[in-house]
Amino acid sequence: MKLNVKAGDITKQDVDAIVVNLFEGISNPGGATGAVDKSINGAISSLIKDGEITGKLGELTLIHSQRTIKPKRILVVGLGPKEKFDSDKIRFVCGKAIRFLGEKKIKSCATILHGAGNGSIQPEIAARSIAEGTVLGSYRFGIHKSEKSSLHVEELLVVESEKSKIDAIKSGIDQGVIMANSAALARDLVNQPANYMTPSDLVDVATDICDGNSLQLEVFDEKRMQELKMGALLGVAKGSVVPPRMIIIKYTGDPEHPENNLGLIGKGITFDSGGISIKPSSGMAAMKGDMAGAASVICTMKAIEALKPKINVTMIAASTENMPGGNAQKPGDVVTAMNGTTIEVDNTDAEGRLVLSDAVSYGVQLGLRRIVDVATLTGAIEIALGKVATGAFSNNSELVNSVIKAGNDAGEKMWELPTFEEYRDLYKSDVADLKNVGGRQAGSITGAMFIGEFAKDVAWVHLDIASTSTSSKTSGLLTKGATGIPVRTLIYLVLALSKG
Ligand code: BES
Ligand code: ZN
Ligand code: ZN
Repeated sequence: MKLNVKAGDITKQDVDAIVVNLFEGISNPGGATGAVDKSINGAISSLIKDGEITGKLGELTLIHSQRTIKPKRILVVGLGPKEKFDSDKIRFVCGKAIRFLGEKKIKSCATILHGAGNGSIQPEIAARSIAEGTVLGSYRFGIHKSEKSSLHVEELLVVESEKSKIDAIKSGIDQGVIMANSAALARDLVNQPANYMTPSDLVDVATDICDGNSLQLEVFDEKRMQELKMGALLGVAKGSVVPPRMIIIKYTGDPEHPENNLGLIGKGITFDSGGISIKPSSGMAAMKGDMAGAASVICTMKAIEALKPKINVTMIAASTENMPGGNAQKPGDVVTAMNGTTIEVDNTDAEGRLVLSDAVSYGVQLGLRRIVDVATLTGAIEIALGKVATGAFSNNSELVNSVIKAGNDAGEKMWELPTFEEYRDLYKSDVADLKNVGGRQAGSITGAMFIGEFAKDVAWVHLDIASTSTSSKTSGLLTKGATGIPVRTLIYLVLALSKG
């Protein structure tokens, strides 16, 4: 889809449809919607009077212009009550509207800038939200379908009558497209079945992302991991014939200040069968998405390269399959992580924290000052927070507050859970330093704190995306399947940290 910006009168555009909006409870539309209403002889206000258009959030009303203006159709989208309006409502309605227009076989459309007038959202932010909602709302994973769908809008024009706003709108659209495309790529990787998305396939994606630009790529194979003594990751990899990979991407946006850095670390289990502690077969197919953490940190680097913030970012993705092969590690085995910590593998299905213990140790050794790890870590997080919010865990209130704020900016909700000392007893082992499971109690917390042990005194945040990395339904900018969460949060975070 192409997104363009133009100064002018929306009713004069050569497009199949135009999109205007209405807040709930408004009977006389003003601004751009009011101007369009006049040009079509009051069709919108008359539908409001009849109670057919109410402005309820996400309400869509298609009106035919009957040649009163050049575009054949006008779509009125409801923005909901003005008091509750924010940039995420823009993303929601744009996602919903673009799918609706596609189903109506509309190829080109123009929209006014939702929320920038009456909704008092800055033009740049409104435009960015339109781009995010439109690009992500029209996302489809169709690569394995023999019949290709042609039901999609090809061009969206953002039309603004005030010339002074055009530069801000253009910049917002550019940022939004970059962010949304990175999130859409993450969706592709997560939706891709495990036979198409092995650790080496993730390396290929990373190679593409780093090709021809300033990003530095490094890939560790098994031999290199052995040299570095990454025994926890290698233990998980033992059960599979597919070789593991650790992928490292470095972005140097502030070369004069090497300590101005951030580590983004992702769990990249390209298929989690559970290993010898094998999972039940029903629902196991969903475990192709157990690399969503790795996908999100890899794809975030793509946006960082394009946006060029003044900060140094190191991405580490720890990738392997978790399989019950003849050489697989067994419950009760003891492995040694790269920092020397010994771990009793009580349950081979708690493999995420094992691969991350080595990835985080490596990040600490590199001198990272702040670390955010992203993982589909526990089923328990869905019990705690449902599919509404990502669980956040931390040893540093400043960093976790920045992450949660970035999540709010991105419309990706995050909720902090505690990491009280008392929980540490739950994952003590009789035979090793730590045990990889903490029992039934506080499952997401013990999983998180296990990873936190390896961060030592580095500021660290863990995001458990086991429930939010996929959506069970299409709604707003989300489409059924992978969500691309938390790619946009991480981009907003990096931008915020780069500004000090
Ligand atoms: N990959 C799973 C967690 C998961 C569950 C992700 C549902 C997405 C959807 C993880 O490796 C796992 O199996 N965790 C176990 C931990 C337990 C053995 C302590 C779990 O949640 O049951
Ligand atoms: Zn598992
Ligand atoms: Zn897993």
